[in-house]
Amino acid sequence: MNYSMLKTLIPIIVVGSLVACQDGESEQSPTAESQTSVSSAAEVKAEAMPIEKPVAENTSAKADLSYLNDEHSYANKDEVLLKHLDLNLEVLFDKKQLKGYVDLKFERLQADAKKLVLDTRDLTIEKVSSIDGQANESAAEFELAEKDPVLGSKLTIKLKDGEDTVRVYYHSNPEASGLQWLTPEQTAGKKEPFMFSQAQAIHARSFIPVQDSPDVRVTYKANIRTPKQLLAVMSAFNEPDTELDGDYHFDMPQAIPPYLIAIGVGDLRFKAMGERTGVYSEVAYLDAAVKEFEDTEQMIDITEKMYGPYLWGRYDLLILPPSFPFGGMENPRLSFITPTVIAGDKSLVNLIAHELAHSWSGNLVTNATWRDLWLNEGFTSYVENRIMEELFGVERANMENALSVQGLREQVKTLPVGDTILHITLDGRDPDDTFSGVPYTKGQMFLVFLEQRFGREVFDQFLNQYFGDHAFKSLTTPEFEVYLQKHLIDKYPGKVTQAELNEWLHAPMLPEFMPNPQSDAFANVDKARQNWLDKNVELADLPTDKWSIHEWLHFINNLPKDISLEQMAQLDKAYNLTASSNNEVAHAWLKLAIQRDYQVVNQRLEDYLISIGRRKLIVPLYKELMTSDKGESFAKRVYQIARPGYHPLAQGTVDAIVNAENTE
Ligand code: BES
Ligand code: ZN
Repeated sequence: MNYSMLKTLIPIIVVGSLVACQDGESEQSPTAESQTSVSSAAEVKAEAMPIEKPVAENTSAKADLSYLNDEHSYANKDEVLLKHLDLNLEVLFDKKQLKGYVDLKFERLQADAKKLVLDTRDLTIEKVSSIDGQANESAAEFELAEKDPVLGSKLTIKLKDGEDTVRVYYHSNPEASGLQWLTPEQTAGKKEPFMFSQAQAIHARSFIPVQDSPDVRVTYKANIRTPKQLLAVMSAFNEPDTELDGDYHFDMPQAIPPYLIAIGVGDLRFKAMGERTGVYSEVAYLDAAVKEFEDTEQMIDITEKMYGPYLWGRYDLLILPPSFPFGGMENPRLSFITPTVIAGDKSLVNLIAHELAHSWSGNLVTNATWRDLWLNEGFTSYVENRIMEELFGVERANMENALSVQGLREQVKTLPVGDTILHITLDGRDPDDTFSGVPYTKGQMFLVFLEQRFGREVFDQFLNQYFGDHAFKSLTTPEFEVYLQKHLIDKYPGKVTQAELNEWLHAPMLPEFMPNPQSDAFANVDKARQNWLDKNVELADLPTDKWSIHEWLHFINNLPKDISLEQMAQLDKAYNLTASSNNEVAHAWLKLAIQRDYQVVNQRLEDYLISIGRRKLIVPLYKELMTSDKGESFAKRVYQIARPGYHPLAQGTVDAIVNAENTE
């Protein structure tokens, strides 16, 4: 192997004293061990655990063990397994770089392992050192391979006998796929810059050299230096009243997969919501966010009652700039949230239920590869809806399910057929490119199906035990099948057949026996819409006064495909839909307007696409625009303006749609 040799001994860098020390010791929340009474999940230990792989039995995958490999990581995790990271990084806004070093502590699964293989993407590796038991550094040989377009560059570090820590000096680059650097003008406050990470699925490697597989779990500590007036927060313990001094210390004592390592830096303030919940945000959104999400504490209580204790201590929200490419991201102890859901009426807070639910499904019990994403997102969508049902009642929960299922039914018609399979085959594709509602809503409906067949009580017990038995572990779909068979199917024979299970997990499209959530409220909306279309009533006489956002969405989504421009104008006049401040309603209306070439919306559409970077809200609009010549030139013109404000992930997606890679 062609290692580049570093000849000199490297002096140890001493990190400056840490004024704002945020270690986990002062944390109030009970540890897993102190909460043994609630449920089986309480019996787990909230600490790094060796990953034990149950062998799949009775499944078709028995002969083919390839599913155990994570095709999206170069890591030699069967030989050497990362256990802990110590990050020492400076946040350099002028250079758009994170710069410093990381100490990687590992365990040898094979005693004679000679190398540690890590994932990187667009990282500059400055040097690599071995750290001995006395914390002395000595040069280590390493090789950085050519970049693969999906996986990035494999970093191979030669190990010395007996050593268990290496130090990598590196910096990220401005184009890091997992970071967004915002200028002050791109923030709400306009005075200070902002930077945030988004590591899922395979972007942690663009800011940390790491074994970037969801099958690896690490604890971490971090020293982060920022401009003095800014606050850094991480997916770790955050001290609510940290002093602003540009020197921050984090501790994440629970082992998490690298895709959950997260950092945000900006002109942030904190406001508490409950005892263990609060909001970090720019001042502009802070009060509105606290009001909108004030039920978060109650959501935790509800979920604990159903599925066992919340094991992560605090649960805070970080409100990001509107360019955040997702609705939310379940970074442990600190979910990252788009401001586009601050609607003023709590109509979109299922997002918070969703990210919180990941504290059980996803963060505690994790998909082992990105083929198994449905184990994260399907379970989470299920738990999310259960939380919504408890908090807001069954009618709202039904409406949200009915909307999701209708969206799914429409989406599967447009997807490559293989991408409608829950246990999807990725064949080396970038997981970002196969993102769809399938792992979410088809996965959720599979669990609703099981709940209906076995009854809620039995199914809840099963889920509870599932979370407890797999806490702080990762599993694959075949492993889940073995577990499901043993703990549910075989226990209550005659309720679900093997053929049904296979259809759910391995067949394309949607099973005929998929649950079809119904909502009485939506039935009334259907009647009202039809009455108007049949010219039996005027719009002014429709009973829309008390309609929720969900009813409006159902109303708009089911307007006839050939609705006339005159009817569009009538609706707009009566309900002011073009000016709707609810971003979901605006999205649904703008999409229909593009389909019908209702040009009255054009200015609103342009503003919408420029001010929001959340992929779910903008991507369908660009796709719709690209179906006509006129729309295409509109999309290209507006994208030129919008693109610099988008996150690299959103840029990648929209570039592919408008085919305008060279717009900068
Ligand atoms: N973990 C996801 C976001 C994600 C998934 C990022 C896959 C990268 C790869 C997050 O929990 C999520 O699902 N967000 C949704 C929430 C919605 C379903 C309520 C979103 O952003 O829209
Ligand atoms: Zn999710």
